[in-house]
Amino acid sequence: LMSPVYQVTASAPVNIACIKYWGKRDTTLILPTNSSLSVTLSQDNLRSTTTSRSSSSFEKTRLWLNGVEEVIKPGARLDRCLAELRRMRKENVEDKDPSVPKLSTWNLHIASYNNFPTAAGLASSASGFAALTASVAALYGLNAFPQHPSSSYSPPADASQLSLIARQGSGSACRSLFGGFVAWEMGKDSNGRDSLAIQVAPESHWPSLHALICVVNSGKKGTSSTAGMQETVLTSELLKSRIKDVVPSRMSSITQAILAKDFDSFAKITMQDSNQFHAVCLDTFPPIFYLNDVSRAIIAIITELNRVSVEATGHLVAAYTFDAGPNAVIYTESENIKTIIQLLLNYFPIDFAASPFNDSFQLFGVGHP
Ligand code: PMV
Repeated sequence: LMSPVYQVTASAPVNIACIKYWGKRDTTLILPTNSSLSVTLSQDNLRSTTTSRSSSSFEKTRLWLNGVEEVIKPGARLDRCLAELRRMRKENVEDKDPSVPKLSTWNLHIASYNNFPTAAGLASSASGFAALTASVAALYGLNAFPQHPSSSYSPPADASQLSLIARQGSGSACRSLFGGFVAWEMGKDSNGRDSLAIQVAPESHWPSLHALICVVNSGKKGTSSTAGMQETVLTSELLKSRIKDVVPSRMSSITQAILAKDFDSFAKITMQDSNQFHAVCLDTFPPIFYLNDVSRAIIAIITELNRVSVEATGHLVAAYTFDAGPNAVIYTESENIKTIIQLLLNYFPIDFAASPFNDSFQLFGVGHP
C-alpha cells in the first residue's frame, strides 16, 4: 500500500518598499530596527510559486529552487521557519484533533519556482519565503479552509500570523503575504510576536498606481542585505537618527498619502526614503554602494521630469526607489507610463536583439499593486 502524499501549491508576489527596512535589532528572530511599508506587485510575472508535499515515506526534508536541489542548513532560516510551522501544526491542529495525520512528524519535499529570472537582481527572497510559508501553512491546515490532498491554496485566515513566520525567513517576506499596501510594524516585544505585517489598503484601493521596473544590472549584488544591514547597525550614526527621528513620522505620513491617493506626498516620501537608505549605506564604515552611474542618471531624469511637471501643473509625475542593488523601480500613475518609458528609452535605448537579462539596461515590465 502506498502512503498518502499531501500537497499544496501557493504563490506570492514580489514587494517593493517605499519606507525601507534596513537594520535588525535581533538577527535570529529577524526583528527590525524600524517599521517599513511596501507595495506588493500583483503582476503575474513577478511571483514565486511553491509546492510543498508531506508523506510518512519521505526519508528527509528536501528543497528545490528552480529545479536545483539546495542544502537545508540545520538552524538556518529555512530550517527555523519549518520548525515554527511544525510546532503550529502540532499545537493548533494535531493536539486538538488526534484523528488528523501527524504531518508535523513527517518530512517535506518543497519545490519553489520564480517566474522571473532569479539572476535579474530583483528581490526573490521576499516572494520565495512568503510562498513557502503560505504553502506549508495551508498543507498543515493552519488556516480556515479544510485540508485535503492536492488542495489548492486559499488566503489564510490570518495572514498577519503567517507573516510572523515568513519574517524569520527573510524580513521583507512578511510583507508579501498581503496584496496592496502593506506595513511591517517593528513591534516592541523581544520575542517578536508583535513584529508583523498588516494591510494598509488593498490592491483595489489605488488601481491607477503602477510600478515600472528598470533592470540596470542583472548580476548578483555585491553586499548581501543580511551582511550590509549588520555593518550599518554597527557603524552608522545616521541610522540612529533615521530610526528615531525620521521613520516613525514617515510611516504615518505615507499611510495618510496612500489612503488619500495623494501621489505628490507618496512620491516625495518614497524618493526621500530611498535616498536616506542609500545615505545610510554610505554612512556605513566601510561604505556600501548599491547605486551605480545608471541608477544616478535615472534619479536625475526623474528629478528633471518632476521639476518640469511641477512648474507646469504643480504636481509630481514619478517616484524612483532603489533597494540593495542598482535596479530602479519607478512608481507612477497610468496616464504617465508612456511618457516615462519613452523618456527612459531615449537615454537608454534597449537592444531588443540582445539576449534578455544581460547587463544592459532594460525595462522589465509594468506592475501595479
Ligand atoms: O528582507 P531582506 O533581508 O532581503 O532585506 C530587504 C531590504 C531592502 O529591500 C533594501 C528594503 C526593504 O524594505 O525591502
